[in-house]
Amino acid sequence: MLPNDVTHEELVVRRGRRSGITIAVAVHSTALGSALGGCRIWHYPTWSDGVADALRLSEAMTAKAAIAGLAHGGGKTVAVLPPRTVLDGARRRALLLDVGDAVESLDGRYATGPDVGTGPADMAVVGERTGRVFCRPTDAGGGGDSSPATAEGVLAALEVLAGRLGVPRGFAGLRVAVAGLGHVGTLVVRGLAAAGAQLVVADVNPARRVVADELGAIWTDPDAVLTADVDVLVPAALGGQLTAELVGRLRCRAVAGPANNQLATEPVADLLHAAGIVWAPDYLVSAGGIVGVAAREIDGLGPQEAQDRVRSIGVTLDMLLDEAAERDESPHHTAGRMIRERMSAVSV
Ligand code: PHE
Repeated sequence: MLPNDVTHEELVVRRGRRSGITIAVAVHSTALGSALGGCRIWHYPTWSDGVADALRLSEAMTAKAAIAGLAHGGGKTVAVLPPRTVLDGARRRALLLDVGDAVESLDGRYATGPDVGTGPADMAVVGERTGRVFCRPTDAGGGGDSSPATAEGVLAALEVLAGRLGVPRGFAGLRVAVAGLGHVGTLVVRGLAAAGAQLVVADVNPARRVVADELGAIWTDPDAVLTADVDVLVPAALGGQLTAELVGRLRCRAVAGPANNQLATEPVADLLHAAGIVWAPDYLVSAGGIVGVAAREIDGLGPQEAQDRVRSIGVTLDMLLDEAAERDESPHHTAGRMIRERMSAVSV
């Protein structure tokens, strides 16, 4: 999606000196400004799979920042846990200090924050080694969790989609399937339930069923949720779920959610378009986290102004979908053009 000559600027891979765990910090681009992207702590079959994920995720962050109109680029940190590793408190702390050192080594070209497997308390520990960290707990002087802002951006995007699908205002009666009840997925489900949506939800962790039971949502398994008969499918788990094979089985009219890198391969965007399914690009729908962080912790705005900026994701999506419809193309291509224009307007 990004121009071919926009390759990664920097990649730091090191085994943490305290934890012994491989850490990859990928800086994809600083063309528009310093790179932003969270720190993921996750299991991978091999360390190089984790490095590859850091490369893909950091590129997605460049797209995210650019389409959201931020003067920032994209980066990402992945702490690569070998399969089945369980971190006890001491080793987790050691890993987070190692992450802080790795981030600090980039001298401000990249700043981190929470992501899958991390939260504000972890950022406070990272912050013992570097100032280049967002979303520390509010009582530690940070902006707190980024998940509410990310969820707010998703809800703004879903509201626009609901309108375009003929559901007048709000979500009453909208049928939505949510795949993944993590930090962001759970908040999205709560917002939708409060506004009267009909929900089918799933998570790989069976314990998350409590959320479904509390909100009166139908609980199903992680495969079945993808092909539920609904208006909108919301991918809110890990990436790569939209495969060519899945497209033929989808029963939704639109797909929009916070999971990063949803397309298993780029041509899936065209398959979705050909199937008449609107795909709202994940790098726009999920941008609320960094938009909120930039508004609160970089630009110093108050909560209301920050929320307005996050909700403008809906306005951008509406514009994008208009242009995509006019050109009869996947919104992925429309978005790609917008991003390339923004990036080529500055000298790379
Ligand atoms: N983890 C989220 C993302 O990568 C949001 C985030 C990024 C929050 C960077 C803080 C800092 O999009």
